[in-house]
Amino acid sequence: MKKEEFKLTKKLEHIAFIMDGNGRWAKRRLLPRHLGHKEGCKRVIEIVRACADLGIYCVSLYAFSTENWSRPQDEIDHLFYYLDDFFNDNIAEFIERGVRVHLMGDITRLPEHSQETIRKSIEMTKDLKKHVFNICLNYGGKDEITRAAKSLALDVKNGVINLDDINEQVFENHMMCANLPPVDLMIRTSGEQRISNYMLWELAYAEMIFPVTPWPSFTKKELIKCLKIYEGRNRRFGGLKNE
Ligand code: IPE
Ligand code: IPE
Ligand code: MG
Repeated sequence: MKKEEFKLTKKLEHIAFIMDGNGRWAKRRLLPRHLGHKEGCKRVIEIVRACADLGIYCVSLYAFSTENWSRPQDEIDHLFYYLDDFFNDNIAEFIERGVRVHLMGDITRLPEHSQETIRKSIEMTKDLKKHVFNICLNYGGKDEITRAAKSLALDVKNGVINLDDINEQVFENHMMCANLPPVDLMIRTSGEQRISNYMLWELAYAEMIFPVTPWPSFTKKELIKCLKIYEGRNRRFGGLKNE
């Protein structure tokens, strides 16, 4: 008999991942760290496919933080080449599945070839509506909030908006996450239990799961295990009701 496919019953519009543990995965196999990132890219497309099949609207992925510039240049160079390969290999499938590429982070510090790949991928998928692939590159939660504050301050200075009209929604409209739903579930792989400057605003009411599996081993099966845990969570949003 065929095994029952897992189905989501709880609302899950936005799932966000901190893809951690690539380096340790490689080290355990006596491989250079960058091969962990290469293997990790295979999990990215596997997880995107699985999420799309489960009807999840938005998948966010932490690919490079504002702090990751402190890594060895050779590792950084490899990461950005793998990023190019990822988009070149998968953009046709994104288009087929109706996945729009959305970017959070300032890519102007990235190598020219990666900036081009990202801009092209965004352009090619800009009218797609079914899913969002939100890639966070040279992204930091503090940086996102600081830029929003600056842009809002400029609008006040120029008389575009009154100080008294600023509220959470107006603030969010100035953030990189404007128009994305709030994160329902955040998964950080590899057992580390911290946020590392990821989506500080967007995670306000997210459920969080920290599987010990490193990202290159985080298959669809591992994802389903996490989703089963999520299904059992009681989301109260400050009230008393069980959602
Ligand atoms: C996450 O894996 C990938 C990026 C930060 C780009 P790591 O490279 O941090 O792997 P570990 O944490 O050293 O094992
Ligand atoms: C977070 O992982 C950043 C990404 C996954 C892109 P790190 O490995 O950089 O985080 P820390 O340094 O362990 O907190
Ligand atoms: Mg790490």
